[in-house]
Amino acid sequence: MNSLDAELGRRLEDLDRQVLRRTLRSVESPQQPLMTVGGRQLINFSSNDYLGLASHPRLRDALIEGAHRFGTGAGASRLICGNLEPHRELETELARFKQTEAALTFSTGYATALGTVCALMSQGDIIILDRLVHASIIDAARLSKATLRIFAHNDMEQLEAHLSWSQTARRKPDGAQGQVLVITESVFSMDGDLAPLRNLVELKERYDAWLMVDEAHATGLYGTHRRGVAEAMEMSPLIDIQMGTLGKALGVAGGYVAGSQVLVDWLVNRARSFVFSTAPPPAVACAARAAVRLVASEEGERLRQLLWARVNQVKEAVLAAGWPLPPVQSPILPLFVGPEAAALEVAARLQAAGFLIPAIRYPTVPKGEARLRLTVTAAHSPEQISELSVALRHERLSLSGPP
Ligand SMILES: Cc1ncc(COP(=O)(O)O)c(C=O)c1O
Repeated sequence: MNSLDAELGRRLEDLDRQVLRRTLRSVESPQQPLMTVGGRQLINFSSNDYLGLASHPRLRDALIEGAHRFGTGAGASRLICGNLEPHRELETELARFKQTEAALTFSTGYATALGTVCALMSQGDIIILDRLVHASIIDAARLSKATLRIFAHNDMEQLEAHLSWSQTARRKPDGAQGQVLVITESVFSMDGDLAPLRNLVELKERYDAWLMVDEAHATGLYGTHRRGVAEAMEMSPLIDIQMGTLGKALGVAGGYVAGSQVLVDWLVNRARSFVFSTAPPPAVACAARAAVRLVASEEGERLRQLLWARVNQVKEAVLAAGWPLPPVQSPILPLFVGPEAAALEVAARLQAAGFLIPAIRYPTVPKGEARLRLTVTAAHSPEQISELSVALRHERLSLSGPP
């Protein structure tokens, strides 16, 4: 064994000892509530395909038609010769949907965060993050070389203290005043709760900061037109940078920023994950455009209503089984367990009973805060939810002590 493999072997053993090693499971069916995993049928309560669009025939047809018209690959980055019609059409559709001047798409949500934050912030600037933001935002903030401050989850007092400190600390190396950027998620990916966007907007205005909100788990679900929590809380025009992903409720893949034309023009010039990366396959942009249209249509509203009905049924089942839940409207229901090994055992027993609800451990969530992340989609049937209810009650009874 060479030295690299020997060292990595030791590191993996260390992960084993901490019950933190991860492995890939092989899924042999499309993304839907009933999945074939390693040859076994499981009811899937772990997907972010909240509206059940990932296998919707209209999106699939748009992808096939896009492949017939534009082939498979974009050939180059958008700035070279990869700026194909479907990319522009998708961005026009997204800007219309989000009611912003412009939108820009990236190959993933992760690449969106990385490219956007690093294009806006650098040494001498200050980035202030909620403790529970997604890894892509943390990585982006670190890569930007700006000074980082973290506030406790949704703690507006601590955010205000950081903002107040930033007024004197915001200094660029040349002595000029630096910028301050506050970043949060609107629906938190692992806890399913919502950010207080009104308070965030009020604070960012008072302290002359910029605000970026990641609507990854909210786009398609909240607000009269399903644009996200920013719409539901009537804050959209006051948020400087709205970002999100096309791979969750929209059922396809990619990420986006929606905002002013000048923001998009700047990102086209300076977002390195956009400039130095081959454009996403045009057929994927065709499918994503069909998804945005569908979400904006009456069918989108019907699916959203169906999702909330299913969420309410699952919540009742979870509470009746004796698991506590945060009192929020969200398709993400965290079943808190605590120790990593215990969470893995619960997930394994549920899998043996026919359910895919994986344990989420460090580093995705803080150490000792392992949980099962149960997600609901509009595609789940009432029968699947009844079966889940029985399994959860059984599992809760077999857990020794409170979770
Ligand atoms: C809050 C949040 N932001 C960004 C991302 C990254 O998006 P993508 O999966 O499209 O890279 C995710 C999840 O993957 C997420 O949960």
